[in-house]
Amino acid sequence: MNNRKDQARMALERRQSRTPIFDALRNYVREGTLSFHVPGHKHGKGLPEFTRFVGKNIMNIDLTIMPDLDSIYKPLGPISEAQELAAEAFGAEYAHFLSNGTTAGIHCMMMATLKPGDKVVVPRNVHKSVVSALILTGAEPVYIQPYVDNYLGIAMAITADEVRQSLRQHPESKAIFLINTTFYGMAPELERIVEIAEDYEIPVLVDEAHGAHLSFNSGLPISAMAAGADMAALSTHKLLGSMTQSSVLLTRGDFIDHDYTKTTLNLAQTTSPSYPLLASIDVARKQAFFRGDEMLTHAINIANWARYEINNNIPGFYVYGNDLVGQLGCHDYDPTKLCINVRSLGVSGFEIERILRQGFHIQVDLSDLYNVLCVVTIADTKETVRALVHALSEIARKYTVQDVRESPIELPPIPALAYLPREAFYAESKRVPLEQAKGKIVAEMLMAYPPGIPLICPGEILTQDIIDYVRMLRKADAQIYGTEDPTAEHIKIIR
Ligand SMILES: Cc1ncc(COP(=O)(O)O)c(C=O)c1O
Repeated sequence: MNNRKDQARMALERRQSRTPIFDALRNYVREGTLSFHVPGHKHGKGLPEFTRFVGKNIMNIDLTIMPDLDSIYKPLGPISEAQELAAEAFGAEYAHFLSNGTTAGIHCMMMATLKPGDKVVVPRNVHKSVVSALILTGAEPVYIQPYVDNYLGIAMAITADEVRQSLRQHPESKAIFLINTTFYGMAPELERIVEIAEDYEIPVLVDEAHGAHLSFNSGLPISAMAAGADMAALSTHKLLGSMTQSSVLLTRGDFIDHDYTKTTLNLAQTTSPSYPLLASIDVARKQAFFRGDEMLTHAINIANWARYEINNNIPGFYVYGNDLVGQLGCHDYDPTKLCINVRSLGVSGFEIERILRQGFHIQVDLSDLYNVLCVVTIADTKETVRALVHALSEIARKYTVQDVRESPIELPPIPALAYLPREAFYAESKRVPLEQAKGKIVAEMLMAYPPGIPLICPGEILTQDIIDYVRMLRKADAQIYGTEDPTAEHIKIIR
């Protein structure tokens, strides 16, 4: 019996040690192939200044679809094999490589499961790509406003009870959309929500932009696939080491029409994927399979070391950890996200981001009114984390710790939906100053980026609360985006 298990494990390891796309690219280069195809830089020769800086190999493997390299829209060779290996490593039935980021995966998940007018249960703190998917599909969002931690000023994950209640009110909903984990590392009760979805016989679609590493270490929240979700889009580029813009869409189960999923992918994806990106997913998957556990354990340990140092030895900063687990909307959390709350220093997160960047050459992942978020990954070492802790202790010295009395300005309530996002997007509209648009139905989105969570979406009625909130964000130097007017001083309203 053991022998059979060992043999199965050895066969699995043999398969997972392969990197079919990367190998095919290296073969092409090794054979000294003479290029009469695009890209026109032909191994970098057509762009010498750039090639000298970035290196010859990256330009050598910047190739295009051809028989030995396979094609993304009908993969039958190395891409197909690499996708099968990824599906196996991530515990999915199918994997599709994306070279337009998780944004394309989110568009595809929603297009594959929703038709115009269908309802979908969605947390309000979704990424803007979900709002664009609502426009593309013509679906109707049934939003759940997540609990917002009053001190941190951060939206949590939605709960299983909230999902159940929402489905009781909208039993005709066709899918549940979840975020695992949120930008700030909060994980929802995935397994319970999957059970609820099964009762209603609808699929669970998961934005795992921040969860590509979850399958590879038991010290992290459960992954969507392990919890039994039907589809998940993962930014392997964020936390698994592949190159920026490379992502993976995973699918499993009977609720999903896998051929139709492929068709929707071909609507959303480029026909000219970047081979360096695809090959980097291939190698990142292999690395995660063999070394993910060990590398992530190290990342968790050094993040926890920094968490301890900051909480115990640097006055004025606070990093949440296990203390948050069990609180409403935080079923679990990702310890590699070091979210440093700066409220009791009486400064904004935006200001601390600026000081870290200008004074210490340290760039954080995002900042908001009360926090800066630092991401510790498989690439970090004790030294990099120590440099961050040192910078924070230098900064803290210049401030006096204050009592935080006032509660954060609350997120404005979800505005009423007058039109479906798609109807509003295509309606006749005109641009007016934001301050004069109270009570009007807007035709575009408004959000603070990062994290890219919408304050108002197309089809919703603008309230004074939202105008005040935007005013306050601007005062704190937050970037406001989403409108055609790049300054977001004006917004399009429906005529
Ligand atoms: C929660 C969330 N979902 C989706 C995305 C989109 O991912 P990508 O940048 O890979 O397109 C992001 C990107 O920041 C995100 O934070």
